[in-house]
Amino acid sequence: MPSGGSEMETTFLIVKPRALAEGHVGGIVTELERAGFEILGVASRRLTRDEAAGLYGVHEGKPFFEGLVEFMTSGLSVGLVLRAPGAVALLREVVGATDPGEAAPGTIRALYGTSVRENAVHAADSPDRVEFESSFYFGDCARTLDT
Ligand code: RTP
Ligand code: MG
Repeated sequence: MPSGGSEMETTFLIVKPRALAEGHVGGIVTELERAGFEILGVASRRLTRDEAAGLYGVHEGKPFFEGLVEFMTSGLSVGLVLRAPGAVALLREVVGATDPGEAAPGTIRALYGTSVRENAVHAADSPDRVEFESSFYFGDCARTLDT
């Protein structure tokens, strides 16, 4: 297990619509707290098509893009701003591999994911993505959440 590094960092996670609809927000928050994350912000909303396409803009043109956007706009999702030492890398570790079938036992996607697309959660993959992604759920407040 990586130590998570010593630098205090902020990261961002989304509980995707199916995991929310199936009642797994509480279970996912429990896993995050157990892993040592402090929860700085929680917001629930249904993304618009443009927002989901913007959030996942790096995947535009890929075969799974339209299905992903459709799924992400299919219902409410929850954005969480999280803080911990080495938070970005630690969260990717706790979330597990993209495909729940390949995710390590005990990771959030192994526990709550049902398919590659409907893999329970999204996690920011670098520190420079955190404020941008948070803004879809927290608007301008995203800037103030790590103070
Ligand atoms: P995420 O961005 O959601 O945290 O997931 P990730 O980094 O582990 O994976 P990424 O490659 O960024 O893919 C983004 C999301 O697209 C869906 N996906 N579907 N082959 C497929 O059908 C496929 N590949 C990816 C997943 O929902 C993935 O989380
Ligand atoms: Mg990604």
